[in-house]
Amino acid sequence: LPSLASSSSDFLRCLSTNVPSELLLTPGSPSFKPLLVSSIRNAKFVAPATARPPLCILTPTKASHIQAAVRCGRRHGVRLRVRSGGHDNEGLSYLSQRPEVFAVVDLAKLHTVRVDPREATAWVGSGTTLGELYYAVGKAAPGLAFPAGVCPTVGVGGLFTGGGQGLLMRKYGLSADNILDATIVDADGNLLQGKKAMGDDLFWAIRGGGGGSFGIVLSWKVRLVPVPPRVTFFNVTKTMEQGAVDAVTKWQTVAPALPDDLTVRVVVQQRQANFQSLYLGNCSGVVATLRDRFPELGVKYGDCREMSWLQYTAYLYFGDASNKIPLEVLLLNRTMTIGPFVKNKSDYVNKALTNNTWHNIFTWPLGGAAHGELILEPHGGRMAKIADAETPFPHRSGVLYNIQYVQFWNGTTAAGTNSIIMPNWINTMYDYMAPFVTKNPRAAYSNYRDLDFGVNKVVGGVSTYDSGKVWGERYFGANFRRLAMTKRKVDPADYFRNEQIVPPLL
Ligand code: FDA
Repeated sequence: LPSLASSSSDFLRCLSTNVPSELLLTPGSPSFKPLLVSSIRNAKFVAPATARPPLCILTPTKASHIQAAVRCGRRHGVRLRVRSGGHDNEGLSYLSQRPEVFAVVDLAKLHTVRVDPREATAWVGSGTTLGELYYAVGKAAPGLAFPAGVCPTVGVGGLFTGGGQGLLMRKYGLSADNILDATIVDADGNLLQGKKAMGDDLFWAIRGGGGGSFGIVLSWKVRLVPVPPRVTFFNVTKTMEQGAVDAVTKWQTVAPALPDDLTVRVVVQQRQANFQSLYLGNCSGVVATLRDRFPELGVKYGDCREMSWLQYTAYLYFGDASNKIPLEVLLLNRTMTIGPFVKNKSDYVNKALTNNTWHNIFTWPLGGAAHGELILEPHGGRMAKIADAETPFPHRSGVLYNIQYVQFWNGTTAAGTNSIIMPNWINTMYDYMAPFVTKNPRAAYSNYRDLDFGVNKVVGGVSTYDSGKVWGERYFGANFRRLAMTKRKVDPADYFRNEQIVPPLL
């Protein structure tokens, strides 16, 4: 390989002859830093001590720009990190923990959504945010929806490649379960238009096998799903004094067994539980169902609000008591301010926890200025009917619910070091939970990426299967092997590489 400096300048020269100069920003440009931080959601990754800037950021507007980036990158030894919405929990779409030269391909400009209401499908650019997708579908095709995540700023590219869970998943499965086709630029810079061109294994792998491993997905054809003109939302909070511990204990077995039209998720924080719902029907339906199945929750007509599915997507995230949320909030994309420092972890639960365990969780000391919460997403319904190997996402039959642990704090780095000072709630809570969650391996959701599980070792220029297996089987179970075999087929030289990509099984 040529020296690092010469390969970097050769790469930039190669790229600038193939893409318009206004789409290529280097650190010398005043727009570089604002663009780099534009979709960073976690203040941890803006702190100067931890952010390793890329050589450049490319903001492609068409496939040929991405093909050029791959071809120039391979020729001159510069790797690419692809970013859609920038929500990666470990910042892997725009920073590297390794001292390697890399460029960011930021897909924010590929955010076209073309809805076909008659066919009930849509083509969606990978740089589209969920808010933009929901807005486009809800406006063009009232009565249709798409099952995806809660936060409107999450990018389609990362969410779909890792699965995509949300409040429609008990009825219709994950986002990845509703992908009909895609276009991708592969590790040789070829544009593969459609699943026939990419073959069964690659089309299977990109629907839940984790972002960044197999190529750069440009766009997705998705199946839109029917929803009634009005859906129902409620948000009921119970404190410990009001029976929160008993209610969550019961929720564990009730929620996964409710009719598919009704999803009740829970956010546990500060000694209270917040039950949030989506019901594909009217208020009287949800009140009647819960009076019968979960009377302890005490949901009444006054707790419910009926609205269109599109209004619901805005309300769930931005909602306040006034219920006057303009739908355009969904289009507020990358300009939102950066929040606090955040650390996430996840688990799957197959067997309900006891009342005593929940009591301990509710009363767990937080310490300092940190703030911690558990988000419980019920499975069951359609999720339980899809075979584990149908997509790379294996957490299907038998799963009661997913737990996401989130810790927020106003962080800083330790004086004179690069280490982030991290309050310890999340690690002690995660250790405490070990006996009560899945084991061998302890499973986790790949979209809640967690480098604590391990990072790949690179030997002879290629990430090793054995190092990947350590974290990979937690996310993908037995599907990890097929993913690694697919990686070998489509990218044996391991060009698309980060600390946690699927390694090739050589
Ligand atoms: P980002 O751009 O950082 O990409 C994530 C990974 O995918 C990176 O490895 C990246 O290289 C790769 N990638 C991105 N685009 C690609 C493309 N076009 N082709 C190939 N690889 C690509 N999850 C969920 O299921 N339901 C939810 O409700 C939420 N909610 C949520 C809220 C908030 C505030 C955060 C921070 C995260 C979530 N998530 C979530 C998790 C989310 O699904 C996960 O972080 C996704 O990877 C984010 O996708 P982005 O495109 O935004 O991230």
